[in-house]
Amino acid sequence: MTADPTNRRLAELQALIEGENNLVGVLANLSAALHEMLSTLWTGFYLVEGEELLLGPFQGPVACYRIKKGRGVCGTAWDESRPIIVPDVEQFPGHIACSSRSRSEIVVPVYGKSGRVAGVIDIDDEKPGRFNMADLRLLEGVAEMLRPYFD
Ligand code: SME
Repeated sequence: MTADPTNRRLAELQALIEGENNLVGVLANLSAALHEMLSTLWTGFYLVEGEELLLGPFQGPVACYRIKKGRGVCGTAWDESRPIIVPDVEQFPGHIACSSRSRSEIVVPVYGKSGRVAGVIDIDDEKPGRFNMADLRLLEGVAEMLRPYFD
């Protein structure tokens, strides 16, 4: 295994979910492991249901249950099928402040086998500019691991 910290973390996360097909359990353990690895404020998942994202397993302060397509950072990442790094949430028009402590955010879509967006990984932190390209690569790797769990 390579010494690259992101690859090492991805291998650890892959091992954590290997052979488990209980989606809620897998998402719960991934949010717990990522939360510990990254020491962030809020770490979790929203899953697509119709025209909304519904709150999934997470770690951190309580959060909004539903986000409409195109709304906030999560709904925009879904609508535009792209990851979004927000260095300063106050500069993102329409940002949804689930926690007033959140200053920066990263959202990465999770795709299903068909290629549709099945949900998003959302991570928030109290530090402005907390998220970088290594975090993006880590979360894109996690999203890739989750593809087989969704149609
Ligand atoms: N800030 C997000 C909402 C979800 S919470 O951060 C957990 C957004 O603007 O989509």
